[in-house]
Amino acid sequence: MSATAATPSPDTPAAKLAFQLYAAIGIAVYLLMMIAGVLFRAAQANYAPVPANFTYELMTLHGAGMVGVSGLAGAAVMWYFLRRHVALSTGMFLSMLGLSLVGVVMILAAIGLGRFAGAWTFLYPLPAKSMGVWGPHAAAAFVGGLLLIGVGFLLFYLDCALALLRRYGSLWRALGLDQLFGSGPLDTSLPPAVVASTMVVIVNTLSILAGAVVLVMTLVNIYLPEVTFDALLMKNLIYFFGHVFINATIYMAVIGAYEIVPRYTGRPWLISRPFLASWAAVTLMVLAVYPHHLLMDFVLPKWMATTGQVVSYLSGIPVLLVTALGALANIHRSGLKWDLPLRLLVFGLFGWAAGVVPAIIDGVIRVNLVMHNTQWVPGHFHFYLLLGLLPLVLGTLFYACTRSGWAETALDRATFWIYGAAGAIFCAMFLAGGWQSVPRRFAVHDDAWVGVAQIGTLAAVLVLVAAVVLGVRVLSRLSRASLSA
Ligand code: HEM
Repeated sequence: MSATAATPSPDTPAAKLAFQLYAAIGIAVYLLMMIAGVLFRAAQANYAPVPANFTYELMTLHGAGMVGVSGLAGAAVMWYFLRRHVALSTGMFLSMLGLSLVGVVMILAAIGLGRFAGAWTFLYPLPAKSMGVWGPHAAAAFVGGLLLIGVGFLLFYLDCALALLRRYGSLWRALGLDQLFGSGPLDTSLPPAVVASTMVVIVNTLSILAGAVVLVMTLVNIYLPEVTFDALLMKNLIYFFGHVFINATIYMAVIGAYEIVPRYTGRPWLISRPFLASWAAVTLMVLAVYPHHLLMDFVLPKWMATTGQVVSYLSGIPVLLVTALGALANIHRSGLKWDLPLRLLVFGLFGWAAGVVPAIIDGVIRVNLVMHNTQWVPGHFHFYLLLGLLPLVLGTLFYACTRSGWAETALDRATFWIYGAAGAIFCAMFLAGGWQSVPRRFAVHDDAWVGVAQIGTLAAVLVLVAAVVLGVRVLSRLSRASLSA
C-alpha cells in the first residue's frame, strides 16, 4: 500500500469547540431521552398515570431522539479519531450538528404541538393515516425533520469519503482490500480507525440515500393521499435505512476501543488479515441483514427472508470476534491500570457482544414467529445500545477529558457498577417480558405483565441516576478536553 503523505486535521480552537458542543449536547439529549424512556416504562408498570396518547408521543420522541443522538455520538467518536489520519472539515462536522438541531426542533414541534405519535419508524402509511390523532402538517414536520437530519449526516459522510479518497486513493484501499487480496506482507501502518470509518462511510451513505427516498415518498403520500406506493417496498426501504443507520452507530463507537485500549496497554492494535476480512465481510452483511425485520411479512420473497435469517447468524460475528479477541489479547498480561474510561470501553465491548446473542436468536424464523413484536426486541437492542454503544461513547469522552490520567474515585466505581448492573437488569426485564410474549409498544399493560415492567422501571431509575452522575462528571471536565489526547 503506497499512500500519499498523511494530512491530519489541525487542532484548531474551532475543532475543539465543535467536539465540546457535540459532547455537551449529546449528554443532555441522552439524559432527556432517558427520562422519556423511564416515563414510558413507568406507565407500563402502572407507576405513572400517563395518558395512552401521550405515552406514544413519548415513545416516538424517545425512539427518534435516541437513534438520532446515537448517530451523532458515534459520528463524533469517528471524527475525533479519523481526523488524526485524514484531513476532515470542522465546518462539515458542525453542519451535521446544525442541521440536526433544526430537524430536532421540527420533530419536537410535530410531537409536542402536532401530537404526532407514529414512532421513529414512520411505517407507511401510518404518518398519513392517523385516524384524526394528528394532522398532515404534524406528520410532514416529523418526516421533514428526519430528512434534514439525514442531509446533515450525508454531508459529514461525503466529507469523510473525500478525505479518505485524497489520502488513500480509493475506498478499496482505505478498507485494506488491496492488502487482503494481495500476496505481499501487510503494511500495518493502515490504522484500524480508517478501516472501520471506511466501512461506515459506505454503508451509511447508502442507508441515508434509501432513507431520503422513502421519506420523500412519505411526504408525497401525506399531502397527496391519492398517490400511493407499494407498502412492502416502503417497509423494505425504511428497515434498510433504519437497521443500517443504528447498526453503524456501534461500528463508529468501537473505534474508541481500537484507539484508546492500546494507550493503556502500551501495545499497538494493528490490522491483520482476519481483521481486514472481517470488516470487508461486515460491509456487505450489514447491508443484507435487514430482512430479519420482515420475517413475518409473508409476501416477502422467500429468498429474502432466508437471506435475512442466515446473514443474521453471521453479520456481527466476524467483527465482534476480531474486536473482542483483539481487546483480550491486547489487555492480557499488559499490566495496565484500570480506571473509569477503560472500564467503560471494555464493558461496552461486552454489552455489544452479549447483546448480539438475543438479536441472533430473534433472527431465526421459527423463533421470530413467537417473539416478533414482543418485548424481546427492545430487550436485545437496549442491551447493545445501553450497555454497548453508550459505554463506548462515554469511555471515549472520559478519555478525551483525561490527558494526564483519570484519578478514579469511589463514586466513579460505584456509578460504573450501578450503571452496569441496573442496565443489565433493565434489559433482562424486557427479555423476560418477551419470553412471556408481552407485546412491545403497548402503553397499557395487562395485570399479568406488570411485574416485569415494575422491576424494569426501578432498574431504569437507577440507570438514569448513574447516567446523570457520569454525564455531570464528563461535563465538569469538558473544558479540559483535548483533540490529541
Ligand atoms: C434509562 C434508559 C432507557 C429507558 C428507561 C428506556 C425505555 C424504553 C421503553 C420503555 C421503550 C418501549 C418498549 C416497548 O416497546 O414496549 C423503549 C424503546 C426504545 N428505546 Fe429505550 N430506554 C432507555 C435507553 C435507550 C437507549 C440508550 C437507546 C439508544 C441508544 C434507546 C433506544 C430506544 C429505541 C430505538 C426504542 C424503540 C422505540 C419504538 O419502538 O418506536 N433507549 N425504550
